[in-house]
Amino acid sequence: MIELNAQQIAEATGGRLTSTVDTTATVTTANTDSRLMTANGLFIARPGETTDGHHFIGAARDAGATLILAERETTDANGQPDPAVIVPDATVAMANLARYIVDKIRQHSETTVIGITGSVGKTSTKDALATLLATQGPTVAPQGSYNSEVGVPLTIFTADLDTRYLIVEMGADRVGNIRDLADIVRPDISVVLTVGSAHAASFGSVDNIAQTKGELVEALPAGGVAVLNADDINVAAMATRVPDHASTLWFSAAFAPPRRPRVLYAANADTTVDENPRFDLQYLADDATATDRAGREVTAGLIGEHHTTNLLAAAAAAFAAGVDLSAIVTAMPSIKPASAHRMARTDRTDGITIIDDAYNANPESMRAGLKTLAMLGRNTGRRTWAVLGPMLELGDQHAKEHILLGEVVVRLNIDQLVVVGAAARALYTGAVNEGSWGDEVDHVLTNEGAFDLISQRTAPGDIIFVKGSNGTRLWELADKLTTAPLGRKEQQ
Ligand SMILES: Nc1ncnc2c1ncn2[C@@H]1O[C@H](COP(=O)(O)OP(=O)(O)OP(=O)(O)O)[C@@H](O)[C@H]1O
Ligand SMILES: [Mg+2]
Repeated sequence: MIELNAQQIAEATGGRLTSTVDTTATVTTANTDSRLMTANGLFIARPGETTDGHHFIGAARDAGATLILAERETTDANGQPDPAVIVPDATVAMANLARYIVDKIRQHSETTVIGITGSVGKTSTKDALATLLATQGPTVAPQGSYNSEVGVPLTIFTADLDTRYLIVEMGADRVGNIRDLADIVRPDISVVLTVGSAHAASFGSVDNIAQTKGELVEALPAGGVAVLNADDINVAAMATRVPDHASTLWFSAAFAPPRRPRVLYAANADTTVDENPRFDLQYLADDATATDRAGREVTAGLIGEHHTTNLLAAAAAAFAAGVDLSAIVTAMPSIKPASAHRMARTDRTDGITIIDDAYNANPESMRAGLKTLAMLGRNTGRRTWAVLGPMLELGDQHAKEHILLGEVVVRLNIDQLVVVGAAARALYTGAVNEGSWGDEVDHVLTNEGAFDLISQRTAPGDIIFVKGSNGTRLWELADKLTTAPLGRKEQQ
């Protein structure tokens, strides 16, 4: 983080200093988690969903926090007031502090801020873009999937005065959410990937999701660039919301290039035997050279055809940020899964392959992952296992979407289905009604039950794909399948 003193933090947040603040001291890191606190840190105490950060001020000071941002005054073990900036709302204060920091960074030197939103693929795209931009200059991107009113400021707190590229992932669960996040970072480049049914429960409708994602392009400044997915009808419609003072760069992996003025197009899109995306990256525009139009061959280390879109989006964002197409193409092969539990492939020494996609799940990402699994099976003749937990947050669509997914598993000819958790029961029912029976399909209630069943029945050569919603902790099962011995227990 850029070095800040207590006066600056009070100025940025409209806060009040407590009597024990050392006004000459500065902080160089900031966090809401006392366990991540380091020397000269600013600890932000905010009431969370499960606990209240104000309870951890002592722990944070022990870990090196020299200043606290809090909603109320607290005292230490000796009854002394903790040195703090007191604000009415710590989450709002984080946003204000982040905005202040972005201003300072921009004032110091040229900085390009890129915001990424969409219903699926944000984290994959930001990781790909971070790999591309890091070849050009100091790049800051969110850790994991930080994309909320807390995650966005925390990302900005990791930037420095020298940061050349600042990538921000933006998620939303209500109309107005993206506008608020965009107001913190004011992106120069706004990337919108897809509008899906993700989180439809909290939004009420797909239209509301489209309305919210589009807030990112409305926020563009003069000279800004909207990077839009021409293949998604709801994203394409956002072109009319791009302000006149900004421009649009399209990306597409459709069967034929869209009739748009400036497009990065994936021609001859395909996958390798390991299901790594491969395509010819063409730039089709008035200012394109013959080589740009002919295309340059691209492969990357991500797994699944669906990542073509994310790679294109990352390439387009880098191009919009001024990076040469040839440099983008050169850097593409070094793009690998960078955040945990996203199509992470482990080839075990016993010949079993685990594909851990257990970070999260919704209907779109489940279908994409299962299709990839089916393709891997088809390419290699290996037996395929889908180990699936529930998709949460689908509201009244829950049963229907799970039944449909069970049908998809059968139609894709996945060899073995293990459904995990009571909430995923309809997935099992969908598969059974579609014609899967006997040993092909099982329903177990717990991760332990799933592990025991798979361990009993798996054999060298199997490919085991694990996926479920974040709240179901299926990644613990994926971790165990990746590392623990598998196989029939010896008979006593
Ligand atoms: N374009 C896509 N189409 C379908 N599935 C995708 C696509 N891109 C990524 N996925 C899959 O969706 C899941 C989530 O991907 P990722 O973490 O990149 O998305 P996200 O938008 O950041 O999600 P979240 O909202 O949970 O932060 C992964 O299983 C990934 O393989
Ligand atoms: Mg994410």
